[in-house]
Amino acid sequence: MSEPRVSIHGQWSSRWIFILAATGSAVGLGNIWKFPYITGENGGGAFVLVYLACIACIGIPIMMAEIMLGRRGRQNPINTMHTLAQESGASRHWRLLGWSGVVAGLLILSFYSVIAGWALSYIVKTASGTFEGADGDAVSAVFGDMLAGPGGLLFWHTVFILMTMAVVARGVKSGLEKAVQFLMPALFVILLVMVGYAATTGAFSQGLKFLFNPDFSKLTADGVLVAMGHAFFTLSLGMGAIMIYGSYLPHKASIASTTFYIAGADTLVALLAGMAIFPIIFANGLEPGAGPGLVFVTLPIAFGQMDGGLIIGTLFFVLLTFAAWSSSISLIEPAVTWLVENKGLSRAKTCVVFGAMTWLLGIGTVLSFNHWADYKLFDKTFFDLLDYLTTNIMLPLGGLFIALFAGWVLSRADSREELQMDDGLGYRVWLFLVKFVAPLAVIVVFVKAIGLI
Ligand code: TRP
Repeated sequence: MSEPRVSIHGQWSSRWIFILAATGSAVGLGNIWKFPYITGENGGGAFVLVYLACIACIGIPIMMAEIMLGRRGRQNPINTMHTLAQESGASRHWRLLGWSGVVAGLLILSFYSVIAGWALSYIVKTASGTFEGADGDAVSAVFGDMLAGPGGLLFWHTVFILMTMAVVARGVKSGLEKAVQFLMPALFVILLVMVGYAATTGAFSQGLKFLFNPDFSKLTADGVLVAMGHAFFTLSLGMGAIMIYGSYLPHKASIASTTFYIAGADTLVALLAGMAIFPIIFANGLEPGAGPGLVFVTLPIAFGQMDGGLIIGTLFFVLLTFAAWSSSISLIEPAVTWLVENKGLSRAKTCVVFGAMTWLLGIGTVLSFNHWADYKLFDKTFFDLLDYLTTNIMLPLGGLFIALFAGWVLSRADSREELQMDDGLGYRVWLFLVKFVAPLAVIVVFVKAIGLI
């Protein structure tokens, strides 16, 4: 056995902390903001089924692969891929995988932060009673007004970038994961409360039917691509975030069971969010395909009407902000570790550099909801394009190459050693999935979405 490397950034103090941090990365706006709105846009049940299949057959095996590569390399994704490729006698171009991840992370953070800014601004709106007794029209008007004012959006985007950089500058291990221990379970409980409320709206079964009753005639090839892209997005896969978190994982921890916990918690939160939101949509005659504002125009109606809604609503947006916060730090961690390891810059300086870059780029997303709303390329605004390019193209491509590297380049002995699995059924199923199923699925969905078959 080769001598295990250590990360210069230290290690998680236990496997449990890693699970919390990785779950903190996975559970975020993707689950509560994005999953419901793309499900609404893509017709419901059939889309959800494809998404679940992607989690099981592509997401979970690739997450295991990504954690495994991270722990074996113990450096930023670029150096990790370089080192592991060298050790396996493969091309050093594998490090491009790390590069694409660093870039994807920065691009995603630029718009993620703007949306997290919406959640921040909704803390204030909810706490100050804006939604008390409001109906669907009033709530939609509040959301519309918020989007129309770039100044406010920019302000909250700035606050969120600063929050993210404050944690990353200190090092993720000493920062957020302590908070995550309490906040993740709290978010879970409040989602249960919202599902409980949704059950009283009279449209609960209609909402559940929309989510879980597949109607394949509503699913397009592009919808399948969106479902697959989202499986990567929601599990934080394909760009080195989980790889860098894996590089801080203690040596003895089992990667397979760890992955199941993370993916299970992430999926549960998304489904609960859907179960809370869709009944409210139908009970109030709203449009499921309303787009990115969906959560922000549905849940406030519930908060405005239910007992204690002011407190529950405020708490909800506080917890949503925390969920986004613990995700955003993982988006920039690969880039930061790369500069720190290779150029010897301090974490603080590195954060200033990347914070400024993502902040600037985020202005494009801010403007795409107002002044630039009519500037479109391929019928997409700046925000839509950035989201599509990263989530539906860069992440699946990154995942594809991670699967190929883990399945074809790394020797079986090496992957078995790192996963700590014997040559039993579990290992063989994993190997089959990363070698054949995941890569083929990504390629087929790509080709189909481009319209070649
Ligand atoms: N998974 C997070 C969410 O669902 C977002 C996220 C964090 C992410 N790190 C990532 C997405 C890395 C892609 C890659 O909100």
